[in-house]
Amino acid sequence: MKITHKHIEEILDFQISDSLRSKIDSFDLQYRELTADERDAYILNFVNVLTNDITKSGEHRLVEWEAGWGENLSKFKETKNIGDIIPMYHGKNKIVKWMGEPVMPLTENFDYKIHISFVDAILQHYMKDIKNIFEFGCGPGYHLIRLREFNKEIGLHGCDWTIASQEIIHKINESLGTNINCSNFDFFNPDYSLNIPESSGIYTIAALEQIGDNFKDMVDFLIEKNPELCIHMEPIDELLDNNKLIDNLSIKYFRKRNYLNKFLTYLECLERDGKVVIIKKQRIFTGSYFTEGHSLIVWKPKTK
Ligand SMILES: C[S@@+](CC[C@H](N)C(=O)[O-])C[C@H]1O[C@@H](n2cnc3c(N)ncnc32)[C@H](O)[C@@H]1O
Repeated sequence: MKITHKHIEEILDFQISDSLRSKIDSFDLQYRELTADERDAYILNFVNVLTNDITKSGEHRLVEWEAGWGENLSKFKETKNIGDIIPMYHGKNKIVKWMGEPVMPLTENFDYKIHISFVDAILQHYMKDIKNIFEFGCGPGYHLIRLREFNKEIGLHGCDWTIASQEIIHKINESLGTNINCSNFDFFNPDYSLNIPESSGIYTIAALEQIGDNFKDMVDFLIEKNPELCIHMEPIDELLDNNKLIDNLSIKYFRKRNYLNKFLTYLECLERDGKVVIIKKQRIFTGSYFTEGHSLIVWKPKTK
């Protein structure tokens, strides 16, 4: 079985550019269904993981994120190979999720390739008229590099609470001649001195997930800064189906890791209060071994 640009267009409900269609199809995203034994083994392992201790996300994890991105930084400094900034968590487990089920990829780097296919399709579509784009929780900034290739004119800005992230972005600029801006920024304590100019859009990818139910300061910050558009690709319990086994396990994993919790419910409350407009909320039916963690929410402050 093979995933093509048509599957992605069907899920996202818009047409993607010819160049991105060709790129996605060139990835040759092949997979097969699991055998009954493989599926049983997968579920058994999942249940075991859920019943053991797992590292929870939160403020205490800064040191680990610094160390993780520090490793990418050292490698990149040594090799100058842009492939070395790609997070090592891609491809950690072989099995991935597709259409709500675990499947076995047959293509190398399948989870990375399908991830960037969705990210690029979403950013290119929703941000097409935006002049400045900010990624919050950008880590090594690899999504920003692809945005730079897509459009040389957009102002790009990567924000992250790790210093290693800014160091990597400086090195990328030196090495590729790009001009990506960067700032140290903590979701737990948003920095209001960060200038978000007219015609700006912001996005987060698997980054707000790290703050559990501590997202209100960040939402207040965004409403105050008033960007044209906010895009999130994050774990959203509310969009999965608790009555389905694999979704239910995914939700249990989100809770066990203390991932983003009730974020969509909160935005919906703000929408009822007339403070924000939700433009899109949907699952994207792809994910990693444990989670379908990149559901899409697009919203904007109401004043726009
Ligand atoms: C799973 S990584 C995602 C990185 C990147 N957005 C991507 O798509 O691969 C989570 C990112 O969130 C950042 N992060 C975690 N907690 C944060 C916080 N409180 N403030 C800002 N960034 C944070 C981490 O440093 C890391 O770069």
